Amino acid sequence: MKNYKRLLIYIKPYLGTFGLAIICIICASGANLYLPWIIKDMIDKVLAERDMAMLNFISVSIVVVFAFRGFFYYWQSYLVSYIGQRVVVDVREVMFKKFQRMPMAYFDKHQTGETMSYLTNDVGAIQSALVDNLIEMFTEGAILIGSIAMMFYLDWKLTLLTLITVPLVAWAMRIFGKKIKSTGTVIQEKLADITSLLQESISSIRVVKSFVRESYEIDRFKVENELNFKATMDNVRLTSLLTPTVEFLAAVAVTLIVWFGGYEVVNGIMSAGALVAFLTYAVNLANPVKRLSRIYGRLQKAMAAIDRIFTVLDLPETVNDKPNAIDLPKVVGSVTVENVTFSYDGIHNALENVSFEVKPGQMIAFVGPSGAGKSTIANLIPRFYDVTEGAIKIDGNDLRDVTVNSLREQIGIVPQETLLFSTTVMENIRYGRLDATDEEVIAAAKSANADKFIRDLPEGYQTQIGERGLNLSGGQRQRMAIARAMLKNPQILILDEATSALDTESEKIVQAALDDLMVGRTSFVIAHRLSTIFAADKIFVIDKGRICESGTHKELLELGGVYSNLYNIQFSSL
Ligand SMILES: Nc1ncnc2c1ncn2[C@@H]1O[C@H](COP(=O)(O)OP(=O)(O)OP(=O)(O)O)[C@@H](O)[C@H]1O
Ligand SMILES: [Mg+2]
Repeated sequence: MKNYKRLLIYIKPYLGTFGLAIICIICASGANLYLPWIIKDMIDKVLAERDMAMLNFISVSIVVVFAFRGFFYYWQSYLVSYIGQRVVVDVREVMFKKFQRMPMAYFDKHQTGETMSYLTNDVGAIQSALVDNLIEMFTEGAILIGSIAMMFYLDWKLTLLTLITVPLVAWAMRIFGKKIKSTGTVIQEKLADITSLLQESISSIRVVKSFVRESYEIDRFKVENELNFKATMDNVRLTSLLTPTVEFLAAVAVTLIVWFGGYEVVNGIMSAGALVAFLTYAVNLANPVKRLSRIYGRLQKAMAAIDRIFTVLDLPETVNDKPNAIDLPKVVGSVTVENVTFSYDGIHNALENVSFEVKPGQMIAFVGPSGAGKSTIANLIPRFYDVTEGAIKIDGNDLRDVTVNSLREQIGIVPQETLLFSTTVMENIRYGRLDATDEEVIAAAKSANADKFIRDLPEGYQTQIGERGLNLSGGQRQRMAIARAMLKNPQILILDEATSALDTESEKIVQAALDDLMVGRTSFVIAHRLSTIFAADKIFVIDKGRICESGTHKELLELGGVYSNLYNIQFSSL
C-alpha cells in the first residue's frame, strides 16, 4: 500500500486534470442512475395512472440524458487516459535516469534484459493498471455509491438487508487479493527472465550461430516462455475465480431483495415501480461490485510491478558526489595511487596494497597474467568503483573529493571492444565532445587514421552505423574510438588492451594512431603484447592484485624476473 501511495505522488502534478476527470465521471455515471428512475415513473405513473404528460416527459428526458452522458463519457475517458499516460511517461523517464546514474557494480550483477524489463514490462503493467483501471474504478465507484444512495432513498430497510452481503464480498476480495499479488510478482519476474534471455541470445547471435546452438537457444526460450505461461495461468485461475465468487454473493443479495421487497409490495408498503427500480439499482450494484473485484485483481497484479519499480528506484547510487565535492580543476596529469586495496564483492581482494606515482605526460604500462587486476586499476581511475582502502589522487586531489562528472570529462578511455551507437559515423565520433564542429570531428578522424576508410564508406561521414557497429571491422571501430578520445582531448588516457583484438596489420595502423593520441598525456596502457609497451616510462608487472615488479623495459629485462620470462616466451620464436 505504501508504494501505491508513492505512485500517487506521480499523479500530483495532474491534480487539476484529475479533478475535471472526476467531475466528468460523476456526471456520466449520474446519468446512468437516472434510468431506473424512468422505469419507476413508467410503471407507477404512465402504466398505472395513464399519465400522457409523464410519458412525453420521459421520452424527451431519455434523449437528453443520453446526449449528456455521451458528452461526459468522452471527456472522462480522454482525461483519465491523459493522466495515466502522463504518469507512465514520467515513471519511465525517472527509471531511465535512475539506470543512467546506477553504479557500475549494479550492471556487473544484473543482466541487460532484466534492466530492460523494468522499463518495458513493469512500466507497461502500471500503464494498464492506471489507464484502464482508473476509469473503471471511478465510474463503477460512482455508480456504486449513487445506486446505494438511491436504494436508501427508495427503501432503507431493504437496502440494509441487501448490504449484509458486503462484508462477505470484502472478505473474499482480501483473500484473493493477496494471492493474486504474489502470482503477479512471479509473472513480472518471469517476464524479466524472458526479456533477459531474448536480449542475451539476440545480442550474442554470432556465438549462437557459430556453435550451431539455435535449437539449444530455442529450447531455453521455450522453458522460460512456458514458465511465464504457468505463472500467468495461476493468476488467471485466481482472478477468474474471484468474479464468480463475488457474483454468487450478489445473487444471494438479489434473492433477499426479491423475497423481502416482494413481501412489502404484496402488503402495500412499497409500490411495484419502486421495487422494480430498486431491483434495477441492485443489479446495477452487482455490476460495479463484479467489475471492482476484477479491477482489484488487476491492481494487485500491477502492485507487484509497482513494488519492483520502487525497489529499483530505492537502490543506492553508491558512487555519489560528496555534498562539498569540488569540480576537478583542469588536470595537469600527475596520478598518485596510495596503498590501494580494492574488492568487488567485499570478500576477495582484486587489488592489494598497490602504490605508485605517475608524473604528467608519462606512459605507464600494466602487464601480467589474466585476472591479475590490470583492468581493475583502470576501472578505479575514472572512479567506476570506489577504492576499498587507500586513496587515488590526481594532481593531489583525492578522487572522492571531486565531482564524478568533472573527473570523467578529463579522462579518455579506449576499451578493448568499441561500442558504437546506431547513428551516423559523424555523430558517433562527436560523442567524444558534443559541441565539436564537423571540421573538428574530421580532424580527429584524420589523426586517428580513420578519415580514409570513413570516406570510402557508402555515404562517408553520414553513413549509418548498424547496431553496435557490427558493419565495421574491429580495427575500424577501434580507430573510431580513438577519434572519439582525440576529440575529447583528455589529459589522462586509459587504453585497456586497445589493440589486442586486432590482427598484426590493423594493429600497426591503430598503434600509430594511439601513439599520436598519447603524446603529451598521462597514459595508462594495458597490453598483452609487450611490443606495444617497450617505450613506456614505467612498466608495472601485476600478479594476484599486487605489483611484483616495476621499471622500464630495459631495467626489467636486466632484472630477469617475471617480465623477462614473459618477454622470452613472446619473442623466442623470432
Ligand atoms: N565486475 C567484477 N565483479 C567482480 N569481480 C571482478 C569484476 N571484474 C573483475 N573481477 C575479478 O577481479 C580480478 C581482477 O580482474 P581484472 O579484470 O582486473 O583482471 P585483468 O588483469 O584485467 O585480466 P585480463 O588480462 O584477463 O583482462 C579477477 O579475479 C576477476 O575475477
Ligand atoms: Mg582486463
